[in-house]
Amino acid sequence: MKLHFTCKKEKETVSLGKRFGRILKPGDIVALTGDLGAGKTHFASGIGEALGVKEYITSPTFTILCEYEGRMPMYHFDLYRLENEEELFDTGFWEYADSEGVTVIEWPEIAMPLLKKGGRRNIYTVTITRRDDISPEYREIDVEGDGRLEELENTVD
Ligand SMILES: Nc1ncnc2c1ncn2[C@@H]1O[C@H](COP(=O)(O)OP(=O)(O)O)[C@@H](O)[C@H]1O
Ligand SMILES: [Mg+2]
Repeated sequence: MKLHFTCKKEKETVSLGKRFGRILKPGDIVALTGDLGAGKTHFASGIGEALGVKEYITSPTFTILCEYEGRMPMYHFDLYRLENEEELFDTGFWEYADSEGVTVIEWPEIAMPLLKKGGRRNIYTVTITRRDDISPEYREIDVEGDGRLEELENTVD
């Protein structure tokens, strides 16, 4: 199923991430797509809050992976700097993706074809689009995945 949201302020994106994070279960994969500065890391920090991560969530752009302890582990990847599937493999990505943590991925494109293969993993896709034509903080957020998303539809932060 697909849900559409609009966020008019940065904190609304974090709060949507938090609402979304509450429906996640061990083993779930979250692919965050959107341009640089769209708000993927802010959305991920909301997910972390929902998962009970106490640490401050920062961008894993340079480290590729940040690992957090919460009610379940959260593995936050940013694959922007990776060039091919071999480099991805070398990060240990597949061990994390197949573990009982929640794997959140910014710039997931390189991993998507293999992630979808076999259909074993439950994948949510979150697409964040800037709407500078409306206002500098306006974002459209589309969330796609299984029927569990119904739980997200009518919740508040
Ligand atoms: N509605 C919004 N949601 C998320 N971030 C916003 C929003 N409005 C403005 N911003 C700003 O956009 C930037 C988003 O940064 P970040 O979350 O790191 O994006 P990404 O990870 O997609 O590159 C931040 O500087 C943030 O303050
Ligand atoms: Mg980011």
